[in-house]
Amino acid sequence: MFKIIRIAPSIIATNWQDREELSKTLRVLEKAGCQILHLDVMDGKFVKNKTFNEELVDYVKGQTTMLLDVHLMVQNPDSEVDKYIKAGADILTVHYENTKDLPRVLERIKSKNVLAGVAINPKTPAIKLKDILQANLVDVVNVMGVEPGACGQTFIPGSAEKIAEVREMSRNVFIEIDGGVNIKNAKVLRKLGTNILVSGNTIFSSKNIRKTVRALKGKLLFREGDL
Ligand code: DX5
Ligand code: ZN
Repeated sequence: MFKIIRIAPSIIATNWQDREELSKTLRVLEKAGCQILHLDVMDGKFVKNKTFNEELVDYVKGQTTMLLDVHLMVQNPDSEVDKYIKAGADILTVHYENTKDLPRVLERIKSKNVLAGVAINPKTPAIKLKDILQANLVDVVNVMGVEPGACGQTFIPGSAEKIAEVREMSRNVFIEIDGGVNIKNAKVLRKLGTNILVSGNTIFSSKNIRKTVRALKGKLLFREGDL
């Protein structure tokens, strides 16, 4: 099993609406050693909340060297992907639940030299991804640890088992866990074969972002209350 582990902070847990503050946040994350930034696009239709669109992705692209991991929580992903490829996504993830022609969309993303991701909601079994994994159509599987739509929710325990199930089906896919990740559950999530841990609340509500990123990576022992 390959052991790459990256921490991808999710900017919806920040004051991303303020561009000046967002730029400062990006500097802090780069200094903390983050190489991937998670961008949650919500349209207020597929999920209740609304965040940003390709315009912000394009802005962030010009502001950072981190890879942009764009998670599309939108009603019609099939017709939306091109905009985000153009805006500079490095990983572009659509949801299994609402993508009409998943193989076609994944092929489209890959043809533009962008990593193609598929996200599964807590209620969607991992086995549903078997065919596309076998066909090598997917680069990143995003296992949702919470119902999509908001940061700061509690991790749904059954999601952890799905990491091992995905790893069983594919040895080469990157596995990302998204939602409810904290310092305590990060250890087992890493052990099960996760490569990318997305984190909103845990990182941005901590006193020391650098230390929290290292702790999520398993590079720093911590005492309760330290972070
Ligand atoms: C939920 C989003 C997550 C979220 C993670 O719909 O996909 O990326 O921002 O935030 P935390 O880590 O606070 O659960
Ligand atoms: Zn996300």
